[in-house]
Amino acid sequence: EKAGYKHFMLKEIFEQPRALIDTFRHRVDPHGGEIILEEFHLNPDEVKRLKKITMVACGTSFHAALVGKFMLESLCRLPVEVDLGSEFRYRDPFVDSQTLLISISQSGETADTLAGLREAKTKGARSLAICNAVGSSIARESESVFYTHAGPEIGVASTKAFTTQLVSLYLIGLYLAKQLGYRQPDQIQQNLQALFKLPTLLQDVLDENRAIREIGQKYMKANNFLYLGRGIHYPIALEGALKLKEISYIHAEGYPAGEMKHGPIALIDEHLPVVVLATRSPVFEKMMSNIEEVIARRGRVIAVSESDNDTVREKVETTIPVPETSLELSPILLVLPLQLLAYHIADLRGTDVDQPRNLAKSVTVE
Ligand code: M6R
Repeated sequence: EKAGYKHFMLKEIFEQPRALIDTFRHRVDPHGGEIILEEFHLNPDEVKRLKKITMVACGTSFHAALVGKFMLESLCRLPVEVDLGSEFRYRDPFVDSQTLLISISQSGETADTLAGLREAKTKGARSLAICNAVGSSIARESESVFYTHAGPEIGVASTKAFTTQLVSLYLIGLYLAKQLGYRQPDQIQQNLQALFKLPTLLQDVLDENRAIREIGQKYMKANNFLYLGRGIHYPIALEGALKLKEISYIHAEGYPAGEMKHGPIALIDEHLPVVVLATRSPVFEKMMSNIEEVIARRGRVIAVSESDNDTVREKVETTIPVPETSLELSPILLVLPLQLLAYHIADLRGTDVDQPRNLAKSVTVE
């Protein structure tokens, strides 16, 4: 059932173009630009009364929530707060009936996320779950459920669940933005057109698989990795680092690039691979200065950037090319090379990719 792939993780990485389509296909009208979310149980007046959105999740789903914060704040102009299940549940959070609590969970059984949802419900919050597992505890206990339809995810390292969570957040963001009057139908139409193009672009990244394995070969002996991103790409740096440490057991840290000077820069030497997310964005120039700072300390930069981005390519040791898309959708594209890089490094080091030591697919105890 691995369909010819060596591991479930690799199969699931390659399933992402299809999984994305399954997430959005039945929720968008391809002509009129409408988003149909029958599963969302707040009426337009209730949406207008919302004062804030709070998202609760763990692990990779928490990284999706961090990307979601950027998406939802820019699309809906509502304050968005993100917390880990294990922190949220014990901190007596400010949540009330004008809060929309979005819990994100692939399995729908993560104990801390479930406890966070229950805590928010006791305080009167409205609840929406983004879940992959149908009929799971989090899905059953939430007022509204948005299923990601990624299909079963077997590999312990989450991949297609993550990218479909991001598509879900994008659709929810556009839907709320329209109800709140922040997006006109023609803008929604444009946003949806960008989404429809995404699966093909993901395929272009997957076509780089061989080249990424070679890059894996080049860096597989490193003992540490640093991942840097800014803005909406910062959570992708966290996710890239999490993937690598989970399955290859190499120590890796994800950092917002602007924080480098405040500590992690001390780690940089000629042995440290530094993965930078350096596509064109409003903070591209800032990212370029970070790259220069890393190179000045002889760090080995692996940049994920557009294939025609010569500014980056001419500076760094290694480039992984990605196609162009909108800023809001770019995290979905940028995470793919990081999943593949982690996969190949782990496979080359001979670890048990699908069942890494000490980890469970779903963490149902605290
Ligand atoms: O099922 P969930 O999405 O609630 O799981 C949350 C985390 O346990 C999960 O994402 C974990 O971090 C993965 N192993 C990441 O690859």
